[in-house]
Amino acid sequence: MNKNDDKIFYTESNMEGEKAIGITTLISFLILIFAYLNSNSNFNAENDLQKRLSQILDAMLEIENDHAVGKVRIAVGYGACNDLFVKASELLENESPPSATKHYGHIQTMEQLKEMYALFFSSGSAAERFVSNETLFMELVKRAESLPSGRYVLGGNAPVMAKRFAMEGGSVMLGAKRNDYLLKNLLPNMAVSGGPTSGSRDDIHLIMEYYKGEKWGDYLSTRANRFIIHNDISNPKLSSSLEFGKELESFKPHLLVIGGLQMMDNYPYAEEVHRQIFALPKSTLVHFEMASFTDEALLKDLNKYVTPNVDSLGMNEQELPNLFTLLKYGNVSVVSHQNPRVAEVLDQMREIFRFLGSKGEKSIPEHHDRILTRMHVHTLAFQAIMVDLRSQWKNTRAAVTKAALVAHRHVCHKKEVEVSHSNILMDEGFSLSTHPNTGRVMFDDLKPVSCWIEDTHYQICIAPVLVCTKVQQTAGGGDNISAAGLVLQI
Ligand SMILES: *[C@@H]1O[C@H](CO)[C@@H](O)[C@H](O)[C@H]1NC(C)=O
Ligand SMILES: *[C@@H]1O[C@H](CO)[C@@H](O)[C@H](O)[C@H]1NC(C)=O
Ligand SMILES: *[C@@H]1O[C@H](CO)[C@@H](O)[C@H](O)[C@H]1NC(C)=O
Repeated sequence: MNKNDDKIFYTESNMEGEKAIGITTLISFLILIFAYLNSNSNFNAENDLQKRLSQILDAMLEIENDHAVGKVRIAVGYGACNDLFVKASELLENESPPSATKHYGHIQTMEQLKEMYALFFSSGSAAERFVSNETLFMELVKRAESLPSGRYVLGGNAPVMAKRFAMEGGSVMLGAKRNDYLLKNLLPNMAVSGGPTSGSRDDIHLIMEYYKGEKWGDYLSTRANRFIIHNDISNPKLSSSLEFGKELESFKPHLLVIGGLQMMDNYPYAEEVHRQIFALPKSTLVHFEMASFTDEALLKDLNKYVTPNVDSLGMNEQELPNLFTLLKYGNVSVVSHQNPRVAEVLDQMREIFRFLGSKGEKSIPEHHDRILTRMHVHTLAFQAIMVDLRSQWKNTRAAVTKAALVAHRHVCHKKEVEVSHSNILMDEGFSLSTHPNTGRVMFDDLKPVSCWIEDTHYQICIAPVLVCTKVQQTAGGGDNISAAGLVLQI
């Protein structure tokens, strides 16, 4: 304790500052005595970490508290679904296990469901299947609803982001079909643009969960996983996205956020989305939140119609190398680091800006109305945002800070960040690039969020995540984090 404290307090010239010096010196002194008396080094190391984390947290909270959310209008597409979770063992309690397993393209009868479930259950692999028999599907839904483990959760990326924006005080319009469950879960400043769903079964995904070591007759599950069934016949998401287009005109959002596209598998929606973006006035910024697109053909489609036509992109550490290699080599990378270094992430971000943003030497094709001026990459250890300073995006430091704080809050499922349930995975500094002899930024606990400008116009900010060590929820993290950053930048 000392060098850093001096730096901060010497700059304060008022009385309170001086009082603070006195108190801090006293506390430092007590801590020193305490540290001296406790020669157990583990204890000291733990204590040091807690102290570091508190300093980092205080500095970040100060930035967050200094930036209120303005009067913003945000439209979020596309779709919502109702995830009905149930323990498979409860749902199938009175069903006798099948004598053999079998694979089907879709499910017509209870017997087929059991044969296919047994197949995936015993191999422990995730699967999602269409149930073509509506009577059967509705019977299962009713049964699941009546069981103790049956519970509905608002599913899909778009509703999660929409809710986060609304919680931050924005006016939000969600492009999705209306249904009772969705309407019940809205916040006062949230509206839904689509028409009503035609029947109650629409968009219900019945998620049958099972656990490692669970038995069903002679079948044994080798790991925890889910078997998902649904009965979406029409393509309700498409019609909701079209209706959304009409309402966008009168809502006049400052920002349109595109998410949830991976829910619309096997459908040529990319062109539809492209048309919707083109119908917007240039004053509306467009952000595309990428999700895990396992299908290479879909990713290529998106890359043709969506990514080159947005102002902002959000993604995690797995989607970043996918997009990067797709742009650079025309194919999708298969391996990606769980924990990439800051330098690697920054290099890929700069390259993506060269391909899609104003940083490129390539001239921008005439019909491209928008180019990339913002990019947010969320990783477990840190948040990175890069913006072109000539664009409308503002408050990058505050945005990256808020995103990092929300990452902790989401995973720990707590409003306040607790240092006792936090860890920091960033080293004492990071290189600006993987290329040799490019500078290094040293980590300063009192100024944990680093921002700098490159090539005159590009601002980059990096914030460390106080990684939650008491994990409560992981799904939906990326959506919350991205939304938290965006809401301060418009
Ligand atoms: C659909 O499911 C119901 C309820 O399980 C069943 O009675 C009916 O025979 C099934 N229909 C067909 C065509 O298999
Ligand atoms: C992608 O293409 C590049 C260049 O053609 C090649 O070196 C690389 O191995 C390919 N990667 C995959 C995952 O196919
Ligand atoms: C993220 O969004 C979900 C759904 O709206 C919500 O349940 C969760 O609490 C959110 N996380 C935070 C940190 O607000």
